[in-house]
Amino acid sequence: MPHPLDDALAQVRELLLDPDQLVRAVGAGRRRSGLPTWRKVELRPVDLKFGRRLQVTAYDATQAHTSNEAYDGGAAAAVDLLLAEPFGNWHVETTTQTLQLRVTKRGQAQLHLGPAQRLDGAEPADEPGRAHDRVKASLLDPAELLWHVLGITDASGRVKPTRQDKLHQVSELLRALDPVLSTLPARDGEPLRVVDLGCGNAYLSFATYRFLTRSRGFDVRLTGVDVKGQAVEHGSRVAAELGWSDRVTFVQGSALEAPVDGADVVLALHACDTATDEALARAVRWEAPLILASPCCHHDIQRQLSAAVDGAPEPYAALVRHGILRERFADVLTDALRASLLRLHGYRVEVIEFVGSQHTPRNTLIRAVRTGAPPTPEQLADYRSLTAAWSVTPHLATLLGIAADIPAT
Ligand SMILES: C[S@@+](CC[C@H](N)C(=O)[O-])C[C@H]1O[C@@H](n2cnc3c(N)ncnc32)[C@H](O)[C@@H]1O
Repeated sequence: MPHPLDDALAQVRELLLDPDQLVRAVGAGRRRSGLPTWRKVELRPVDLKFGRRLQVTAYDATQAHTSNEAYDGGAAAAVDLLLAEPFGNWHVETTTQTLQLRVTKRGQAQLHLGPAQRLDGAEPADEPGRAHDRVKASLLDPAELLWHVLGITDASGRVKPTRQDKLHQVSELLRALDPVLSTLPARDGEPLRVVDLGCGNAYLSFATYRFLTRSRGFDVRLTGVDVKGQAVEHGSRVAAELGWSDRVTFVQGSALEAPVDGADVVLALHACDTATDEALARAVRWEAPLILASPCCHHDIQRQLSAAVDGAPEPYAALVRHGILRERFADVLTDALRASLLRLHGYRVEVIEFVGSQHTPRNTLIRAVRTGAPPTPEQLADYRSLTAAWSVTPHLATLLGIAADIPAT
């Protein structure tokens, strides 16, 4: 149903000037009544060193003209000028909805309201109001300087196709983190210490910092750890560019030994092979209240099974006879034993699929919440009989110094 144009533009104006809700807006096309000054205009909030600004990019036939307007300064005037232009369409994406305004031949407005667009390339959610979609929407705001500096979005704020899977993994991992945040002990004014072990290009590190501070209100000190100096240099450079260097730092070293004092939340996304074991062992040593680890390749137990194919317990030899099945079984056994060892060290553990396999085949997540509960005799017996049956010694057990025996409390 057509609406009076002024009312519809007033609705658009309100969205354009909302620094927290607006994701991106585009004015384009023309009305019967006239030709706009600009071929197209794009607006988005951006976080600059001196605060959030409304970025306005106006395109003429050959180039783009960009200005960053303060919300308590020139933003309202800039928006009013653009809304006065005879654009034929406005497309406005916010964290909760998508509004499309089309001006009819009679100069009235056709308005269409839809769910928020998912910026990670996935289909729109069935229920746009669900909590996790709000998490995604606020997390994946492509207008953030952060994503641009990290190289995830291109100049127009679109997620680069090659980065979509990783961004989706990161957002799903944060979605898995969100519900267990409530189990964290009281902070007593202390910042939350988050450590990302095997941080690589630090997408997860920065996304977590951004999510926990802006969306969840924590005061966070985040440390990214990687064996590669290049990863540390990259993370440090991005942190400096964002003005976050005092709260987001990077350290070169192994997950097991890097100079970090402790952590409340330990993250490890696709830390290679036994680097995941190092991350889990470190977290146990720190008695970290929360651990989220999504393992990568699993060579340790695989090697042990390959070396002893004939030693498989009856009647399970068929499970490890064929290379591909042995590989998959080794993955399952490795993560089952990791979960088992964490339970023996006072963690409540879940092993879940945190992201669809189309985004990565490495989609298992070990989510552990520290309870401090001593191991039960049944848990000990389970662990011992499983490792004995398959004649394996998980690397994590070696790191925890309990290969030979686990003290029954
Ligand atoms: C597959 S990448 C994953 C990076 C990042 N977490 C992600 O998901 O995009 C694995 C990273 O772990 C690092 N790494 C490998 N072994 C490590 C260890 N023992 N300690 C710390 N980092 C390690 C590698 O240098 C690499 O950057």
